Amino acid sequence: MPRPITWVEIDRDALLANLRTFRRRVGPRVALCPVVKANAYGHGLTEVARLVEPHVGFLAVQSLEEAVALRRAGARKPILILGYVPRAALHTAARAGFHLSVSNRESLLGLARAGRRLGSRVPVHLELETGTHRLGVVPEDLPAFAAALHEARDALTLAGVSTHFANIEDTTNHTFARSQLRAYRAGLERLATMGLRPRLRHTACSAAAILFDETHFDLVRVGISLYGHWPSRETLVSSRTRRVTHLRLRPVLTWKTRVAQLQDVPAGATVGYGCSHRTTRRSRLAVLPSGYWDGYDRGLSNIGRVLVRGQEAPVRGRVCMNMTMVDVTDVPGVALEDEVVLLGAQGPAQVSAEDLATLLGTIPYEVLTRINPTLPRVVV
Ligand SMILES: Cc1ncc(COP(=O)(O)O)c(C=O)c1O
Repeated sequence: MPRPITWVEIDRDALLANLRTFRRRVGPRVALCPVVKANAYGHGLTEVARLVEPHVGFLAVQSLEEAVALRRAGARKPILILGYVPRAALHTAARAGFHLSVSNRESLLGLARAGRRLGSRVPVHLELETGTHRLGVVPEDLPAFAAALHEARDALTLAGVSTHFANIEDTTNHTFARSQLRAYRAGLERLATMGLRPRLRHTACSAAAILFDETHFDLVRVGISLYGHWPSRETLVSSRTRRVTHLRLRPVLTWKTRVAQLQDVPAGATVGYGCSHRTTRRSRLAVLPSGYWDGYDRGLSNIGRVLVRGQEAPVRGRVCMNMTMVDVTDVPGVALEDEVVLLGAQGPAQVSAEDLATLLGTIPYEVLTRINPTLPRVVV
């Protein structure tokens, strides 16, 4: 394959170091379940899965399509589908042996039918509604679910019971998270009185896994922090105040492109669509062959910065669909096809996902997952 003009590098050592950090954090008995949905948070579904699979018990994705892609790429570990699988696809999902999160009766009954047709027991994970009000079984419906599971015990196995925290990253006050944990435990107890004890109890995302031992149960579903990012500043602050000080996370992804043209322009020249930038001095511009199609958000127009020759270069004018102009007047020696870092480190300089998220008024999750999945992911 010819050398790509824009690509994403995945730091294998950093990824595996983060994984070891979580292994130390949760101990040897809790299963690690990397969340590799959304193209492994932009890092490359198959690339990340191949690296982490030997060290983990499970892999979690959002959709059936992602689960199928993982299997096709050779993943052998159990795959948990966190999101909704359409009823028409339940048989396919069951046949493939995927674990499915279930939060409605129609899906449960559909999986029971699939299990009977296949002559095997489909592993289901009941997701309990504890305050997120997204996917989940409300407490009043638990008896009906338990009855359905009991009736379909030849076709279904209760492999897991889960929940998801609504307000564990966004705050240093974890009262709501604690109330969710109480509701989850109550749900488990209720199921136990109906004779249902799952093999895997799981609640923890990154922030929960980092901050609270009591959320670990049997398996932790770690996403953002596996990729080397704190879920939020609040989580970092909470970890310091709770003295979880041994945790060091290493960003895994570097997003790179190359200079496609250099242009010297006079003072007063306009740059890009809408003429939204006008040079105030004689300037040297570098044109980068990456734009919002690549995932470099148009909101970074006139405010983003990239790294070239280890120095920062500000974005000038609007980010185009496939191109972005940056000012390299103050960076000596920039040459055609010089490597440019859009996100990541170059020497001592760094543009983090957190920096871009702050500029864009969003969270690192969104910055990372928006990197176009068709760009090559290269493991280094
Ligand atoms: C159900 C579920 N579990 C775990 C995660 C992982 O969360 P995080 O990336 O904060 O670790 C997510 C992410 O959105 C999720 O939806």
